[in-house]
Amino acid sequence: MSFWLSLCFSRSFITQAIINLMLCLFIVYFMCVYFVHVTDVRLRQPVSFHTRYFQTSANHRDELLTVKTPAFAESVTEGDVRWEKAVGDTVAEDEVVCEIETDKTSVPVPSPAAGVLEELLVEDGGRVEGGMALFKIRKGAGPSSVFICPQVKMNRMRLRIAQRLKEAQNTCAMLTTFNEVDMSNITEMRAFHKDAFLKKHNIKLGFMSAFVKASAYALADQPSVNAVIDEATKEIVYRDYVDISVAVSTPKGLVVPVIRNVETMNFADIEKTINALGEKARSNQLAVEDMDGGTFTISNGGVFGSMFGTPIINPPQSAILGMHGIFQRPVAINGKVEIRPMMYVALTYDHRLVDGREAVTFLRKIKAVVEDPRVVLLDM
Ligand SMILES: *[C@@H]1O[C@H](CO)[C@@H](O)[C@H](O)[C@H]1NC(C)=O
Repeated sequence: MSFWLSLCFSRSFITQAIINLMLCLFIVYFMCVYFVHVTDVRLRQPVSFHTRYFQTSANHRDELLTVKTPAFAESVTEGDVRWEKAVGDTVAEDEVVCEIETDKTSVPVPSPAAGVLEELLVEDGGRVEGGMALFKIRKGAGPSSVFICPQVKMNRMRLRIAQRLKEAQNTCAMLTTFNEVDMSNITEMRAFHKDAFLKKHNIKLGFMSAFVKASAYALADQPSVNAVIDEATKEIVYRDYVDISVAVSTPKGLVVPVIRNVETMNFADIEKTINALGEKARSNQLAVEDMDGGTFTISNGGVFGSMFGTPIINPPQSAILGMHGIFQRPVAINGKVEIRPMMYVALTYDHRLVDGREAVTFLRKIKAVVEDPRVVLLDM
């Protein structure tokens, strides 16, 4: 027992124990430091990754800059901020964003780059010292990425068009039927006679006259397409005349002047009338009477190169014919493929009044007349 005691408390044993303890403490300390360092790096990694990710995926010009309070003159340590700009404002490079009012003077703080103010880090009137963060600016997000959409008031004509088109949709049970027209014969006829026609009538021979005349013919054949519902009396009003509204686009919008009594006109009369009305429309001289009382409308999207589309009824009418562009297309003729100048035509009609059979027959009549205009001469 006395041996063990003497051993334990011997001088060399105590020294050894202290040295061992200190070694242990050092090891623990280094382990702690290493652990903290590793954890720190791990925690930081995603953050730095995100930063890089944003910088590369977004336009790298769109960098976020933090602008600090400039150092003041020696005797001045602080000042009050007066903002000249607000968050969202676009600023140019060197444009003043705020003034810092110190005891002696007012220090303007310019933007280091062109961009958009993202955040103000000090409230208006707030106190700042040199070096304090003032605001954040998104560099590069300048006027090039800020679009100001032009806004103009709807003019009376646009308002009226909008009102009437919506009225058509709300009132009619509209649907559309289609067909296609082989324009070979009428193209050939036009090519053959256009010079003589121009010489005699002093206007160009177009395709419109053929469709207007064909419509008058088909409307006489299918009177319900030329009729209208009288909403007040719940009667169907059949007309014994054909007044065709022709859609003409003008700088102010679409207008629909009327060609009256088309049933009594020949191709030359129709072309002359269309020409005169078009002239009036373009020079803004159409009177209200010129656009009143059509019984049917023709809209020619072909002038803009349209291939196919569904026109909308021009109220209070019951149907509208849509013409489209003439394109060379392969078609089957007597079992052979031939390339012909073709046009799709569409008839939108009010199904409350016009039956499918009438609409389809109407459009087939148009096709027959335009493909072979002699049909009209022979009244077939
Ligand atoms: C073109 O007119 C001729 C008569 O001249 C007729 O036989 C032919 O069917 C017409 N073409 C088309 C595509 O209807």
